[in-house]
Amino acid sequence: MPLRQEYHEWYKDAVFYEVSVRSFHDGSGNGIGDFKGLTDKLPYIADLGVTAIWLLPFYPSPLRDDGYDIADYFAIHPDYGTMADFEQFLIRAHELGLKVVADLVVNHTSSENRWFQEARRDPHSPYHDYYVWSDDPSRFSEARIIFCDTETSNWTYDPMAGKHYWHRFYGHQPDLNYDNPAVQEEMLRVVDFWLGKGLDGFRVDAVPYLFERDGTNCENLPETHEFCRKLRAHVDLYHPGAVLLAEANQWPHDVVKYFGDGDEFHMCFNFPLMPRLYMAIRREEAKPIVDIISQLPRIPPSCQWATFLRNHDELSLEMVSHEERDYMYREYAKDPRMKINLGIRRRLFPLMDNNRKAIELLHSLLLTLPGTPVLYYGDEIGMGDNIYLGDRNGVRTPMQWSGDRNAGFSTADPSRVFSPVVIDPVYHFNGVNVESAQRSHSSFLNWLRIIIKVRQRHPAFSRGEVRFLPHESIPVVAYTCTHGEQVMLVINNLSRFTQYVSLDLSAFRGCTPVDCFGGCRFPVIGDTNYLITTGPHSFYWFELQRPG
Ligand code: GLC
Repeated sequence: MPLRQEYHEWYKDAVFYEVSVRSFHDGSGNGIGDFKGLTDKLPYIADLGVTAIWLLPFYPSPLRDDGYDIADYFAIHPDYGTMADFEQFLIRAHELGLKVVADLVVNHTSSENRWFQEARRDPHSPYHDYYVWSDDPSRFSEARIIFCDTETSNWTYDPMAGKHYWHRFYGHQPDLNYDNPAVQEEMLRVVDFWLGKGLDGFRVDAVPYLFERDGTNCENLPETHEFCRKLRAHVDLYHPGAVLLAEANQWPHDVVKYFGDGDEFHMCFNFPLMPRLYMAIRREEAKPIVDIISQLPRIPPSCQWATFLRNHDELSLEMVSHEERDYMYREYAKDPRMKINLGIRRRLFPLMDNNRKAIELLHSLLLTLPGTPVLYYGDEIGMGDNIYLGDRNGVRTPMQWSGDRNAGFSTADPSRVFSPVVIDPVYHFNGVNVESAQRSHSSFLNWLRIIIKVRQRHPAFSRGEVRFLPHESIPVVAYTCTHGEQVMLVINNLSRFTQYVSLDLSAFRGCTPVDCFGGCRFPVIGDTNYLITTGPHSFYWFELQRPG
């Protein structure tokens, strides 16, 4: 078994980069991204300063949910290359010091999966009980419909089986039946297969929905947590050092339960925080951020949040109030095509209307608030989206490498490329591409590389404890991050206008705030409040140096 190089709790100091093999780079020239192409571009990813890659599903699939509909858990989609290509990719990533985690789709399979095909054909097949069947489609009616734009029920009738099967997502994604111990064992076999190849962990998809019980909303059930503990114990025992990151899009008190007592997931995405970052910056007030982080219960010491601004899905608005959702739609989805289900299908730069200062400020928050940041491919060069493509495909278009044919993504005939490249005048690949961004010293890409380096130099940002500082300035978010002897002071101005903030820093009397970027030493902290002025959408990261 390949050795997994590890150091203690590596995921806490990581910066993740989420990438779709399909969209990143086409190494074979057939119009579809593949592992060869991705391997060629690994130096680019490493150069960004990220330390871990999260791969979207790359398994055989009819791709009716971009690979989250898995037809075979133990192979590579032929579009993306061979198992040998995958293994080569993994070796190269590890050589460059990059960890790699993959998506583990535990909740459901594709209806084209052999398990489901056997299940529907033969009620006596061992696979029949891999899925959840019922003659009565009104069962579990308290469970919400997640893909509410396209699905009208969580049950679909299968004429071959003569029964309905349960699914929380698309009708072609039947849910696995976790009451069947064989399903649990099967999933652990999947885990062993991929971690055995040297993967460093999983982003575990759609965790809250594994079990169903009458009279409940079928989310976050105790049985689901029990399986998560089993999964974790298995990983710890057989694959120490591998990390489990939960996609549990839930309210704060429900998400934190997926950390368990440090015996479920190492990491959980901070879904409650994400939309509130957008709300805070548009309203120009710190409150949504401070409130939500203060509401999050403490997590076990070995655990870590995963913070993010955007990902391959819609900007999810499931975990906000109705008023907040209306506000977000009003501000960020002016064209109805921008909405999908309960969210907004746009990329970061279009969401922020290309406002560079505001985007930088969001990254200041992303890189200093509690957790490990997860970046989404293409956002580092300011890629646009295409709201005229179906589903969430508009935020999954080919990576823009250069102004060449197909944005340098593929040498194929443009009509063969799996998705149109972005040619919207504002985000056209002629100008928005890696080559241009690398050439321009002042590009966002170069700025991001520097700020990631600065974060990585200060463990207080990744491992520290964040404490908000009380003050009177509504648009300013100010906090300290403390880890051992290291104290960082972060001040973010969410407003379009200049602000000042008066901070009680008496606990740090005698310390000198030193700017993390230029090294400028600010006046020593004295007995009176510390007064700082900040420009529009500006931020400061200081290290508080003790006297002597
Ligand atoms: C997760 C994925 C999403 C997918 C869904 C169903 O939420 O992030 O892309 O559609 O699961 O598999």
